[in-house]
Amino acid sequence: MNAFRDDVLAGKVVFVAGGSSGINLGIAEHFARHGAKLALLSRSQDKLDMAVAGIVAAGGEAIGIAADVRDFAAVDAALIQVQQHFGNIDVVISGAAGNFVAAAKDMSANGFKTVIDIDLIGTFNVLRAAYPYLNKPGASLISITAPQAVKAAVYQAHVCAAKAGINMLTQCLAMEWGAEGIRVNAISPGPIADTEGMARLAPTPEMEQKVKARLALRDYGSKRDIADVALFLASDNARYITGTIIDCDGGSKLGDATLPELPPRR
Ligand code: NAP
Ligand code: COA
Repeated sequence: MNAFRDDVLAGKVVFVAGGSSGINLGIAEHFARHGAKLALLSRSQDKLDMAVAGIVAAGGEAIGIAADVRDFAAVDAALIQVQQHFGNIDVVISGAAGNFVAAAKDMSANGFKTVIDIDLIGTFNVLRAAYPYLNKPGASLISITAPQAVKAAVYQAHVCAAKAGINMLTQCLAMEWGAEGIRVNAISPGPIADTEGMARLAPTPEMEQKVKARLALRDYGSKRDIADVALFLASDNARYITGTIIDCDGGSKLGDATLPELPPRR
């Protein structure tokens, strides 16, 4: 078994869906520093080229393949390319997602479906397409969910429904694929600094302050916080963990932690 050290992912092949920016790119960069070979997938080849260049400039190994996670055949074709380039896959991160803030009554059926298609069906497509190319036993599959999966939120009906589905999919696949030595888990990040997700959910400094004030830990997390959890789940140190959703959310799931004035004692 590996110790928790710098080469913990040495030689491991890691596929990151939604890996061209934000939290998922943070995971990819962190994994590259720990010796992994990275294959990134997202829609934009330009974004992928920049992400790959960053990893390579830092001394890592990476390729980028453009595909939309809503298109199973395209994801499958990308995975075949990864396998031909690097060999079988040890770790899959499924983090492609879309979000916008909209009241349900103003959301079109296609708007709702779009987020379900990217987040939930996209996650099924990525994990299902990866299955034949996984190193078994030993593969670790990690989806990126969100507190909205378990905590209702206004203007987030599409995301709440999609991420709840990801949590259940995680548990179902863990049960079905555990016998082959495949672990299936998810990470639920809270509000993470310098991300597209928070730029959409809290676009002004005032809104950002309000979000922070309601969190138990009173601050945003960092991409590195999520990458550290992902590294643990990807490593043999998590060899007995499957079907789990790990919250790395500053207490976001707990609800509003604002401390109101205490009522007078009676
Ligand atoms: P982000 O930078 O926008 O990352 C989204 C990634 O997914 C990008 O690489 C994007 O690249 C890709 N993508 C989007 N639609 C795709 C599609 N149809 N097919 C393939 N790739 C697609 O956002 P982020 O804020 O870092 O979020 C990353 C993950 O963390 C998401 O799963 C999100 O739900 C989750 N999360 C974020 C927060 C937060 O605070 N930001 C909190 C909780 C959970 P292209 O544009 O090139 O396709
Ligand atoms: N409010 C209401 N509806 C919206 C919307 C908004 N802000 N943005 C998009 N929609 C609707 C569109 O109107 C469309 O529905 P319609 O055909 O009935 O008009 C539907 O959503 C699809 O929009 P489209 O722009 O064609 O989708 P896309 O596949 O090109 O992009 C999104 C997907 C909308 C999720 C886009 O924001 C995206 O690519 N996001 C990725 C990055 C991201 O969200 N990062 C944060 C991750 S947490």
